[in-house]
Amino acid sequence: MSLPGPGEAAPADVLARLQAVVDAALVHLSLDDLLDELLTRVRDALDADTCAVLLLDEDGLELVARAAKGIEEEVEQGVRIPMGRGFAGRIAATRRPVIIEDVDHSYVLNPILREKGIKSLLGAPLVVEGRILGVVHVGTLVPRVFTDEDMSLLQVVAQRVALAIDRSLAHERVVQMTEVQRDFVALAAHELRTPATTVYGLAATLHERRDDLPPETVEQLENTLYEQADRMRRLVDQLLDLSRLDAERIHVAPQRVPLRRCLEDIVRSAAAESRDQVEVAVPDGLDVLADPTTLERVVANLVGNALRYGAPPVVVTAEQSDNHVRIYVEDHGEGISDDFVPYLFERFRRSEDSTTKAAGTGLGLAIARAHARAHGGDVFYRGEGRGARFELVLPAQPLTGG
Ligand SMILES: Nc1ncnc2c1ncn2[C@@H]1O[C@H](COP(=O)(O)OP(=O)(O)OP(=O)(O)O)[C@@H](O)[C@H]1O
Ligand SMILES: [Mg+2]
Repeated sequence: MSLPGPGEAAPADVLARLQAVVDAALVHLSLDDLLDELLTRVRDALDADTCAVLLLDEDGLELVARAAKGIEEEVEQGVRIPMGRGFAGRIAATRRPVIIEDVDHSYVLNPILREKGIKSLLGAPLVVEGRILGVVHVGTLVPRVFTDEDMSLLQVVAQRVALAIDRSLAHERVVQMTEVQRDFVALAAHELRTPATTVYGLAATLHERRDDLPPETVEQLENTLYEQADRMRRLVDQLLDLSRLDAERIHVAPQRVPLRRCLEDIVRSAAAESRDQVEVAVPDGLDVLADPTTLERVVANLVGNALRYGAPPVVVTAEQSDNHVRIYVEDHGEGISDDFVPYLFERFRRSEDSTTKAAGTGLGLAIARAHARAHGGDVFYRGEGRGARFELVLPAQPLTGG
């Protein structure tokens, strides 16, 4: 078994081999560079021909080939292995190392491993603080009997590698978040500029020329000033709401809520003079344990949108099942085009046709979703062509009586 690095004389010195794989210099590398470097070192330390890392995807259902040495096609072809199946899937599911001495006579899902003529495999799980991140494995082109020492080495290396990957992934998330925030600040400033400029212009005109202008003009200017100031105030409220939600400082306080009455109150204030266009079809006596503020923020947003972009009648319904309460808001308008659905909940996104229908900033649904998620639930679009239909789902224990 060969050892990398200068001056590594003692072949049995597991620690030295380990040291050669994971050293402090790796801390500063990006995830791709880190994996590139680590795989070569792991492969050399175990005197293998190939080495690969598969990482668990977001849903935790499949392992996806992320980096490889000697079997690069694994990554290029985006090999995916279901959790629990095949060689890698079994390692991830059981969180235990696996040795396969003869690939030809074994349950190996990944066709590339066979095509490349891999004969023996040794793999270990990548686990950090009880979370499984993926699998690292080495392979040889000639049959090889991996020893207990090889297995222990790979396991210890896997622990260190998992830690390095976890740190690197966390760093990537921070970078991503920073980008999102930078975009957000730019967009927010852009949205605020229009009303701010108008408010300033109108106020300046009134300040300097009020006495020279006919009373009707002054009144008109004052009305516009009021509208623009109101728009600005609303926007600032929305931005504050979002930044609080981003910082996860939202405090959810579930309490016993008589659903029908609560939804009627929300609709009354959200729909105002259009109240008769909204029907609340919720049975009496349906009480749930939920935070009324979350209900108000989400349902008011959905009803407001239905009235602005959809068409009456707007119908609000609710049901309780599986310890969840589901509230639906649907309208009889044109619904949301398939092209726009993927962007619906993104900040500052509005469909092209809606810009002519009503003033808005495209923050309402992003805010609604953030409130619902802070409550452990979510908001979904459930439209199927005939009008828009949104669903708010919240975890809520059933309560009986009213
Ligand atoms: N019921 C609906 N029918 C058709 N389109 C809708 C409906 N609800 C939302 N939309 C579309 O989704 C977009 C985003 O909605 P969202 O509530 O996030 O923002 P907004 O209403 O434009 O502005 P804001 O709520 O910040 O004042 C809307 O601009 C509209 O294009
Ligand atoms: Mg809205």
